Amino acid sequence: MSFSSSTTVKLFITCSPGVEPLLANEVKQIVNIEPEIAYAGVSLTVPSFEEIMKLNLYLRTASRVLMQLFDAPCRYPQDVYKAFRKRHWTGYFPHLESFMIDAPLVQHRGFTNSLYAAQIAKDGLCDSLKAILDQRPSVDTKNPQIRFVITIIDDLLEVFLDTSLDSLHKRGIRLKGHEAPIRETLAAALLLTVGMKEDDIICDPCCGSGTMLLEAALIQSNTPPGILRNRWGFLKHPKCDYKMWTRVQDEAKKAIRPLKNDSFIAIDNDRDSLDLLKEAVKKLKFEEAFTIKAQNFQEVEFSTPPTLFVTNPPYGVRLQESEDLRPLYRSLGEFMKLKGAHPSRGAIFTTYDMSKEIGLKATKRHVFKNGQLECRLLEYDLY
Ligand SMILES: C[S@@+](CC[C@H](N)C(=O)[O-])C[C@H]1O[C@@H](n2cnc3c(N)ncnc32)[C@H](O)[C@@H]1O
Repeated sequence: MSFSSSTTVKLFITCSPGVEPLLANEVKQIVNIEPEIAYAGVSLTVPSFEEIMKLNLYLRTASRVLMQLFDAPCRYPQDVYKAFRKRHWTGYFPHLESFMIDAPLVQHRGFTNSLYAAQIAKDGLCDSLKAILDQRPSVDTKNPQIRFVITIIDDLLEVFLDTSLDSLHKRGIRLKGHEAPIRETLAAALLLTVGMKEDDIICDPCCGSGTMLLEAALIQSNTPPGILRNRWGFLKHPKCDYKMWTRVQDEAKKAIRPLKNDSFIAIDNDRDSLDLLKEAVKKLKFEEAFTIKAQNFQEVEFSTPPTLFVTNPPYGVRLQESEDLRPLYRSLGEFMKLKGAHPSRGAIFTTYDMSKEIGLKATKRHVFKNGQLECRLLEYDLY
């Protein structure tokens, strides 16, 4: 694999199922290449390392940017071992870095489980390095320094470097999350679906640790979501150009726009969650833009009414919990209608069951998965 002028590199960028069109749109905007949409991701070829850096830094809805290293025919399980054994891996392991191999997709009659495929790939890689360095790197499945991904579909093995290393929902903004947080990548997908205007005053009345508003502020200020991350898989590629990486980050920092004062209103009645939000706001230097209220939303009065509400209120998993939450949804509907600017908009992300309790007529509905749970994003025009 090289980046000479005649060579392009194949990427597969993963995301949650259902988010693919939003991801494709983001990719197009960042690198001006139309990707092909697949299940839970998009694929494209790029001409240089710069695109890989930019995609990692700027993508809001993606989980991982995987770069294909090679493919090989795979008729028998031992073919995986052979493919890994015969390659030279030293470039990736100048200091005997720790690594892991993940096998999320194995559809092959020779493998009853994907762990086995990952295991023999690891054996091949370790034996290859041992033959040259007389040492084996260590496997670290929690915090590896390098992460490879393999897929085996029918008789084809594909091997990727995970150029993101840690999932891209980890923005590097906080270490600890809320007990029921929404993933940053999902929050970004919801916000890109709803759309925001430059002069919107955005309120989350059940903000928890504020993921939704933080993502909104990152978008509104044109801040790349990865700007505070410092672990990246592409930095371990033997051909990574570090000067190029500095330039890409500098360009991104220059394009950040200041936020309007008091344009984000965060409300929650749980102070511990708000403390997490305050920490993140400080880290991002967004203090002037945020108003944080430790209150029941029903008691809040606004000096300047919001033009956009976005929220993911609590929803019960058990039947009784859902019953107890129904009045909260009714008051949330009333709150948005009465307290918003005229006109304003609302967007509520919740389960199908709870969505019926809001008491307002949705103008648009979208289905998104939150983990295994099928949820609805409901949009309201409020007059
Ligand atoms: C599902 S969590 C939101 C999680 C948030 N999106 C995040 O990523 O951290 C729902 C939040 O609603 C808050 N909440 C519930 N009832 C409320 C009320 N009446 N007023 C304000 N906040 C409320 C809870 O404290 C909880 O933090």
